[in-house]
Amino acid sequence: MAQKTLHTISTMKQKGEKISMLTSYDSTFTHRINEAGVDMILVGDSLGMVLQGLDSTLPVSINDMVYHTRCVKAGNKDCLLMSDMPFMTYRTPEEAMTNAAALMQAGAQIVKLEGGMWLQETVAKLYEQGIPVCAHLGLTPQAINKLGGYRVQGRTPEEAQNMIDEAVALEAAGASMILLECVPTSVGKAVTEAVNVPVIGIGAGPDTDAQVLVLHDILGITPGKQIRFVKNFMAQEDDIQSALAAYAREVKDQTFPAPEHCFE
Ligand code: KIV
Repeated sequence: MAQKTLHTISTMKQKGEKISMLTSYDSTFTHRINEAGVDMILVGDSLGMVLQGLDSTLPVSINDMVYHTRCVKAGNKDCLLMSDMPFMTYRTPEEAMTNAAALMQAGAQIVKLEGGMWLQETVAKLYEQGIPVCAHLGLTPQAINKLGGYRVQGRTPEEAQNMIDEAVALEAAGASMILLECVPTSVGKAVTEAVNVPVIGIGAGPDTDAQVLVLHDILGITPGKQIRFVKNFMAQEDDIQSALAAYAREVKDQTFPAPEHCFE
């Protein structure tokens, strides 16, 4: 296998091959995820909750993200590596440039930003300077206080159309991928059909090009109630390596996500 690039992932989309992605925050798990045949890794700002025990992603700093991106890069071989820009690190295109550059220098191949239309100029400027962007739409955890909780987004026809318009506008601005979190299956399908770039879903139904889940969720070790869109692969496998491989396989053969992981 060779190091996956944006071109590899776009080609997989064009061929209709489903794409698997997991979060990772350290070198050892990254090594295991590579061995399991997963296509992409996200160094998510979910590390605030998963590793740091916080109740949201808001306190995560750019230094935290740079540190964990370096750790993941050290264990990575084949997976395309995406890193999250944390809360308030992309308020202006200039600020975004400085912070995205730090993540790219730590090993990211693409950065992820949460937000809609207001990100167009930032996306265009980063793209111009050689920094690919994934735009995160739907449930955007950095806006949790504005959204009023972790709820399904895009349920009304107006909200759904707005999300489609945002995805199209961000692609036109230069976004290389779109990530959709916690939206009805019909919205996941409509956004995927509206753009040419790969669409990654988490709780967005089976029709997006790629699926992403949080590593600790699929290993069944996240404390508390399991979220609807999560599947615990340790419940059916004997060890961690087999659970990671089962995730990659079930995304490819479209067994995951099943209807019980999706929203109407
Ligand atoms: O931070 C993260 O892990 C994410 C995923 C939940 C998509 O953004």
